[in-house]
Amino acid sequence: MATRKQLPPGLHRDTLAVRAAVDKSQYGENAEALFLTSSFTQPDSETAARRFAGEEDGYIYSRFTNPTVASMEQRLAALEGTEACIGTASGMGAILLLCMGLLKAGDHVVCSRSVFGSTIKLIATEFGRFGVESTFVSQTDLAEWKAAIRPNTRLLFAETPTNPLTEVCDIRALADIAHGAGALLAVDNCFCTPALQQPAALGADVIVHSGTKYLDGQGRVVAGALCASSDLIKGKLIPVMRSAGITLSPFNAWVVLKGLETLGIRMEAQSRRALELAAWLEAHPKVARVHYPGLESHPQHALAMRQQSGQGGAVLSFDVKGETPDVMRRNAFRVIDSTQLMSITANLGDVKTIITHPASTSHGRLTEDQRGAAGIRQSLVRVAVGLEHLDDLKADLSRGLDLT
Ligand SMILES: Cc1ncc(COP(=O)(O)O)c(C=O)c1O
Repeated sequence: MATRKQLPPGLHRDTLAVRAAVDKSQYGENAEALFLTSSFTQPDSETAARRFAGEEDGYIYSRFTNPTVASMEQRLAALEGTEACIGTASGMGAILLLCMGLLKAGDHVVCSRSVFGSTIKLIATEFGRFGVESTFVSQTDLAEWKAAIRPNTRLLFAETPTNPLTEVCDIRALADIAHGAGALLAVDNCFCTPALQQPAALGADVIVHSGTKYLDGQGRVVAGALCASSDLIKGKLIPVMRSAGITLSPFNAWVVLKGLETLGIRMEAQSRRALELAAWLEAHPKVARVHYPGLESHPQHALAMRQQSGQGGAVLSFDVKGETPDVMRRNAFRVIDSTQLMSITANLGDVKTIITHPASTSHGRLTEDQRGAAGIRQSLVRVAVGLEHLDDLKADLSRGLDLT
């Protein structure tokens, strides 16, 4: 028995975040149910045959889809403003599915050099083994993106803002370059989420998510998703998913589904704290520079404000002062190790503030020269700002900064 009301058209994003879902209520439950089942019984053999052949809708097996996963997909698609969405086991699972669904040997990808390290490895090394070519370009130099296009270019891949330097690229301009070349543009929207930035409205064809970050928002599950047109998802991605099994578990989908309900207020509150913390750090005598799109000193500040609903997001990084790489590293470690609140961990997107040293963790496998080229110095500290009181966060950073 379905008891949920039919949603009227034209609802605002805040409303869709708490209401959009597949109507599967059985007992009038107000929270969406969690369907923790691997398979679905069929009423009879004829129906089973039609469903397996794709001639009739109906749930079959949770590797294909599941009502809880479908509810998460429907809610995220509503927030991103796309026709459809497909959940995946992780953010990297989403990028794997994207590449498997869209590319074949001999195709070419143009990707920003500043995207998440595993994304570069997956595209360049793993898909490279299967004959996919790739070129990596400057995040912000549109001329480089244009110059990298070849007749076999099928996909442009961008992430904005990037981790940890928060570089911002122009989504609309990249969509124009991609479409002019007959290629698609995929944008990793992990840092801004649809609460701040809707890449589809700016021309992106596919939006990539690590649900592990802000969509969950409380550091509980690993999850991912791709948002795109129904044609692309039904025609290119679902067939691969059915065979490849990079499936989002119903439990993780349910956690993300409920996380989406508070996404807007979390992003706003965490961005507000990040801006205040960034401004405070920028004025601090022990800080050499701050990287945060919400600051006027950020090289793409105006673009970021246009593209990100006037907000900078919740991730910032800063360089502590120091004359040599050894001193820079010692000072950065001092700031990190003197914190008593912030978590030293590899994630971001949590309501608990997270602090890391990119040069020795996420970018630790690069040589000093490669890190230098990427602008990741030993002095860099990244902070993914959570929901703690700002005074407590400032006090937590002051402890170490005062010792440098
Ligand atoms: C921007 C970005 N994209 C994708 C991923 C991969 O997500 P997951 O860890 O869920 O596989 C990450 C993870 O840190 C990320 O920061």
